[in-house]
Amino acid sequence: MEAMMPSHPFPALLASLLAVAGCATAEPALKDACRDSFLIGAAINEAQFSETDNRVATLIKTHFNSVTAENVLKWESVHPEPDRYDFSASDRYVDFGERNNMFIVGHTLVWHSQTPRWVFEDAEGTPLDREALLLRMRDHIHTVVGRYKGRIHGWDVVNEALNEDGTLRPTPWLRIIGEDYLEKAFEYAREADPSAELYYNDYSLEHAPKRDGAVALIRNLQNRGVKVSGIGTQQHLRMDSPTLAQVDASLTALSQLGIKVMVTELDVDVLPSSTWDRGADVSLRAEANPALNPYVDALPASVQLELAERYAGLFSVYMKHRKTLDRVTFWGVTDADSWLNNWPVRGRTSYPLLFGRDARPKPGFKAVIESVSPVPSGSQS
Ligand code: GLA
Repeated sequence: MEAMMPSHPFPALLASLLAVAGCATAEPALKDACRDSFLIGAAINEAQFSETDNRVATLIKTHFNSVTAENVLKWESVHPEPDRYDFSASDRYVDFGERNNMFIVGHTLVWHSQTPRWVFEDAEGTPLDREALLLRMRDHIHTVVGRYKGRIHGWDVVNEALNEDGTLRPTPWLRIIGEDYLEKAFEYAREADPSAELYYNDYSLEHAPKRDGAVALIRNLQNRGVKVSGIGTQQHLRMDSPTLAQVDASLTALSQLGIKVMVTELDVDVLPSSTWDRGADVSLRAEANPALNPYVDALPASVQLELAERYAGLFSVYMKHRKTLDRVTFWGVTDADSWLNNWPVRGRTSYPLLFGRDARPKPGFKAVIESVSPVPSGSQS
């Protein structure tokens, strides 16, 4: 499969890449360049969709035709206490997407993280039983999905249900409800908005054991009559891992499910990976570990070009899969907004996205534009 991938026009690219940053009005819009291939999205934050961060709001309107709520639809934000929902921010998020004719994604309904502890306990702090937790899950999904019925077009219904070996992650959802908690979540979401697309979303699907687990999980849901509209592969990536061949193989395997495939949380971490092998340790702080935060003032030109090449390679693979790849969404817009400034080490200066802290396009931006246009002939298998 690797041999069939379009070759990247790197040498021609490299000469012009660094020049791009100066011409804010001249560059083509990402969404126009990707128009015939896939939706192009960004996870956006409150300052952006409220347009207090006007500069980035303008970038979003110019370059993206899909948005995902970075945080405001997570359980802890939208349903912070048992009897209190707070839709003030999410209403503005959906308004922003509608005003700009965007494909609006709801993220996320059932997850083990950013979900308050009370969700799994009664008023005395005793763990809920299956029926009580199902009722609570149903109420949450009906209330949140129902509020945006016909307006939010697709929902990440269940997020990150799998371990790295492809088995189900031992979350409170699994422990209390049992394996059919996924089926129930999709069932409730379908009841609440029969026309919304409903997705399963997870990371590290470039690694075969976890991907096989995801494929089996979706097939199992399908066999039980549950309609899953799509699968999201997050793709929080590093410079050298996973390989393009792994990304390619993953998209091929996921496309065989016959449902929509989406890259949902794309970014590329360029910083040293000290803690990745043993998981994140956010107690590590950049000030105490300067070696982990090497580019405080600026990203060296050589690394900038490597990042552009990485993005060129990734988008060449995405183009190969453009008939089955429905959307590519970045997890953030500018480097300043990225969660990677605080993960897996707090307080670092990170450079994972296509727009810099000055909201100008980086060389990676032009690399993406060149990779997606014009469509390379014969690149779709
Ligand atoms: C996961 C979640 C996202 C976000 C990112 C990084 O991938 O799905 O909501 O929290 O981590 O912050």
